Formats: sequence, C-alpha cells, structure tokens
Amino acid sequence: MSSLTQKEQKKLVGKVAIDTLIEKKLIFSGMKIGLGTGSTAMTAVTRLAERISDGTLRDIKAVSTSFQTANACEEYGIPVFTLNSKLINGKLDLAIDGADEISPEKHLIKGGGAAHVKEKIIEYSSNQLVIIADESKLVATLGTKFALPVEVIADARVPVTQALEKLGAKCVLREGVRKCGPVITDNGNQIIDCTWEQPVNAVKLEDKINSITGVVENGFFTKKNPIVFIANADGSVQEL
Ligand code: A5P
Repeated sequence: MSSLTQKEQKKLVGKVAIDTLIEKKLIFSGMKIGLGTGSTAMTAVTRLAERISDGTLRDIKAVSTSFQTANACEEYGIPVFTLNSKLINGKLDLAIDGADEISPEKHLIKGGGAAHVKEKIIEYSSNQLVIIADESKLVATLGTKFALPVEVIADARVPVTQALEKLGAKCVLREGVRKCGPVITDNGNQIIDCTWEQPVNAVKLEDKINSITGVVENGFFTKKNPIVFIANADGSVQEL
C-alpha cells in the first residue's frame, strides 16, 4: 500500500480537485475564480494553469488572495483582477483554497500564511468555496491545536490582546522569519495568534472577535458551506 508524504498529498489534492471540478462543470471557461494562498492552494493554481495551457479552459479571470498567489498567476500567465475590477464586479463564481484546520461541520481556521483577510473577503464574495487539504488538517474541534490568527492594526496590539485574553485566548504576536520583529501582512498589519485550552464556539467567536476595535479580521471561516477535498496518505482523495 502506498504511503504519501504530506507534500505529496497536497499535490494530489490540488490536481484531483481541479480535474473533478472541471468534470462537474463547477470550473468552466470564462469563469471568475478566487485563488487561495499557501502550499496546498499553489498546487491548485499549478493544475489550473496546466488545464489552461492544454486548452481545456479559456478566458479565466482570477482574483488572488495574496502577493504569493498574484506572483504565481503572473508567472503562469493567468490574468489577475481585483474584486473591484469592472469585469469581476464584486462577485466570484468559485474560490479554491487550503485550510489549517477543518472541523466536522466544515468550519475552518485559516491564516497560517497570514493571508486570511483577503482570503475571507474573496471567499465570502464567492458563490462556491472549495477547500483542499491533506488529512492532517481534519480536527474534532477548532482552536486548541492550530492557533487562530487575528490580524490587528499595529497601534491596537495591546488593547486587542487584552480583549482576546478576556475571551480566554492565549495570545502570541507572530514573529517574522529572516525578518526582525513581527510579521507584517500584505495589508500592512500584525498578527496575534490565539489558542484556547478548551474547545470554543467558532461561530460565535468569529463575530465576537471582529467586534473588538482594532481587529481587522480573524481566521475563523464558519459562514460558508465549502466543498472539501481531503487527500489521504493511502493515495485516496475524499470529498466531504
Ligand atoms: C494562508 O493564510 C492560509 O489560510 C492557508 O490556506 C493555510 O495556512 C494552509 O496552508 P498550507 O496549504 O500551506 O498548509
């Protein structure tokens, strides 16, 4: 029996998801598609580019969720727009992205790559959200294992941290790698990573955290009902 590494599972799920969605006519020529961020989302971008190159898809209009994705699209020659572009007009047909945690209700934590603000704007503006992931991302409850990212305006870091602690969170300011000081997001803000000792109500917390003054957006995604593709170590891909 084959045993795929996590990297191999990510590559597999990106390819299978794009091909399956094309077969099911959920991805089609002329569509407006939101493209996610992270190592798994990149495998879908690569496969999408292949299906454009082989002539299966034409006239795809992409909206990217980060500099990483915009750069990849530019590299592959996939035309990139913003939600504000006339041709997009604020609405997408489908968005595809990875996730950090996926609960049995298909609620998500996203933002491990600090891109959850644009991801949420773009994915909540899309008719259909598709999540692709390796099996390690499935969890029983959200928020106790992988930290919930909260993007904050830099000047509000301390009061927001105090408000998050009142909600029971253990807070850590995300530090840069090969960059001194905090991570600065694509939007020029900072990230507070939050974990809880006990399972939390992600549906309530998604709104509650966003009501704290100084918070830009948090990484709970509970308001869509995504199609989820999961790749397993045995080489199978399941659709949830
Ligand atoms: C980016 O900010 C995230 O939301 C990613 O989608 C998430 O972190 C998953 O990343 P990987 O696909 O790299 O595991």
